[in-house]
Amino acid sequence: MQSDFDRVILRRGTASEKWDIPRGEGVLPLWVADMDFRAAPAIVDALRRRVEEGVFGYALPPRTWHDSLRRWLHRRHVWKVESNSILDATGVMPAIAATIRAFCVPGDKVIVQTPVYNCFFKAIRNQGCEPLENPLRRVVAKGASTGDFTYEMDFDDLESKASDPRARLFLLCNPQNPVGRAWTEYELRTAGEICLCHGVAVASDEIHADLQMPFSRHVPFSRVSKDFSEASVTFWSASKAFNLAGLQTAAVICEHDATRERIRHLLNVHGTGELNPFGFIAASAAWDKSEEWLDELREYLLGNYRTLVDFIRLRLPMLRVATLEATYLAWVDMTALGFDSAALAARLEREAKVKFSQGAIYGEPQGSAFLRINLACPRNTLMDALERFAKWTEPHLGRCCFMGDNGAVRQV
Ligand SMILES: Cc1ncc(COP(=O)(O)O)c(C=O)c1O
Repeated sequence: MQSDFDRVILRRGTASEKWDIPRGEGVLPLWVADMDFRAAPAIVDALRRRVEEGVFGYALPPRTWHDSLRRWLHRRHVWKVESNSILDATGVMPAIAATIRAFCVPGDKVIVQTPVYNCFFKAIRNQGCEPLENPLRRVVAKGASTGDFTYEMDFDDLESKASDPRARLFLLCNPQNPVGRAWTEYELRTAGEICLCHGVAVASDEIHADLQMPFSRHVPFSRVSKDFSEASVTFWSASKAFNLAGLQTAAVICEHDATRERIRHLLNVHGTGELNPFGFIAASAAWDKSEEWLDELREYLLGNYRTLVDFIRLRLPMLRVATLEATYLAWVDMTALGFDSAALAARLEREAKVKFSQGAIYGEPQGSAFLRINLACPRNTLMDALERFAKWTEPHLGRCCFMGDNGAVRQV
């Protein structure tokens, strides 16, 4: 491995949301989704060259940044996208807000599959709309997967939600944060057909697409069929896989001309369609020159996930971990400990000096006994965090229960 993901970089006091929000001395932050790794050398070089120019006026993003994205999508995801199908946005969330506005009026409903990225709920409510939950179904993990359980889509429930006359849009998370599923072509096709049949459009957030585990493949929703590409909008960014979230740059891919023009208009109305120069320069350097770095990162993240699973099996065997197919976010079932996730996360931050995300924010009741652990840090940092977690948790084992893989709890 060429890249040094083991290197510890001091981020506290660097105006970092992840490191500077946690309260108290010396808290290890494994929560918000950014990585503690330095960006790929080609990205840092490209940004350095731009800084050296020393002039930072309004930018005119060149077509070449769309070409970088198109080549990337074709090479990595076998997905051919036309240049005029791409819009610029200052982030995936602003693009989602514009897309909800494009399809819905206040009072309409947007389908989400819970547990799901917490900001989806806010984005829907901010537009005066209502989240319509299609909860994922927990199932025992099978085959060569390393976790204890995983999730499936509930198509019967999706059918019933999609037939609600106020359901206009399905906000898909592909892959799914926080449960780590990389949806298969069969799952996407079935969900897409249900939505199309009921006149529900699909907005597919693919921000984590490039963070597949080495054994897993991403399927872009739009690539599944011509009908799907006409009836959907996709959000893409280099920000998660290449750790560029602070540069606030994303792309919206929409092949339907009228829809795309409406989203372009709404992005402009909200002032969220114009990029800063660093964002598109970094994204181009990521897609054109940092593929090897990304593949090394994916191996490292898999190593961190296995470290977590082995640690939990050895030290905290009453807990259960979801199989991770994509993202660097582990989803851990804490039911056996008997705390609700908000209280548990708060106590871990205060008393164990480790900050994880509480599961309830991703949807209740499904997430209320879960923690989400961000694995994108040097392995020694992860081990330090897990030691702190176990040291705090072990004394509570007296009141613990044993949990089956299906989530059923029994006292021991
Ligand atoms: C699924 C998902 N979508 C969107 C975002 C945020 O995207 P952006 O920072 O580009 O608004 C995140 C951040 O964690 C995410 O997990």
